[in-house]
Amino acid sequence: MEVHKFDLLYTQDKIACRIRELGEEISRDYAEKDPILIGVLKGCVIFLADLIRNINIPIEVEFISASSYNGNMTAENQVAMVGGPKVSIKGRHILLVEGVVDSGHTVRALIDRLILQEPASIAVVTLLDKPVCRKVEVNIAYKGFDAGDHFVIGFGLDAAQKYRNLPFIGKVIG
Ligand code: IMP
Ligand code: MG
Repeated sequence: MEVHKFDLLYTQDKIACRIRELGEEISRDYAEKDPILIGVLKGCVIFLADLIRNINIPIEVEFISASSYNGNMTAENQVAMVGGPKVSIKGRHILLVEGVVDSGHTVRALIDRLILQEPASIAVVTLLDKPVCRKVEVNIAYKGFDAGDHFVIGFGLDAAQKYRNLPFIGKVIG
């Protein structure tokens, strides 16, 4: 197994505080909207679990799986998607919940696909955002923290599938 060196970026306490704020904001903004939160696996899992326990309005939870690939493929072909909501999202308010948005390709492809099912709205919620790395435009409605251009791990986020279980967020330094 490859071992990565990392520095602490966001502590458990700081993350918990921020997720509480996001939960309050979403509860306010979606009070009458009966939203469906769609978690993007696998990076969303820890964030989503904490976020929904800080939301105090009726919600539903679904999952979708996405993997992005590097290479010379076109943007539309770069993202493979599996699964998706098991219920009809037509006319529903959707919150797409991600662990980290980097180039934006994954979230863009998911939105383009979900929009075909004619939801009332789609907004993106991400724990970490890397706007300086953006290659396609994506509007982020709710973000936990900025991650600069660091490769971040922990709190659900992986490097080669490891480190998702770290209870804080680290930045890889080597
Ligand atoms: P995007 O499609 O370039 O926005 O990248 C999104 C996906 O790439 C995420 O769902 C992650 O799986 C992965 N990813 C991008 N940046 C990071 C990072 O800093 N740490 C861990 N995974 C990342
Ligand atoms: Mg990954």
